[in-house]
Amino acid sequence: MAWKTVCQTSDIKNDIPKYKKIDGVELAIYTVDGEYYALEDVCPHGRAYLHEGIVDGDTVECPMHDALFNITTGEWLDGPGCRNFISYPV
Ligand code: FES
Repeated sequence: MAWKTVCQTSDIKNDIPKYKKIDGVELAIYTVDGEYYALEDVCPHGRAYLHEGIVDGDTVECPMHDALFNITTGEWLDGPGCRNFISYPV
């Protein structure tokens, strides 16, 4: 797999993830404590976009039904998310 440039680090703010669609995959790129993370962006429970959710530290809450995910691992923590997020190397 080849690396792809999706944005500049200056495009990503602490509480505002960057949305990008790369090769048909919708991603949200986050920064937490100076590290960068790329997760799939569509909630596994529905068609909500997590880049429109609420970021609080290392978690993001789905804007539709409040499922909670860990940004650094993609782990589903609470709510009706149904599964972990796919996480991509950055
Ligand atoms: S669409 Fe995300 S929790 Fe329902």
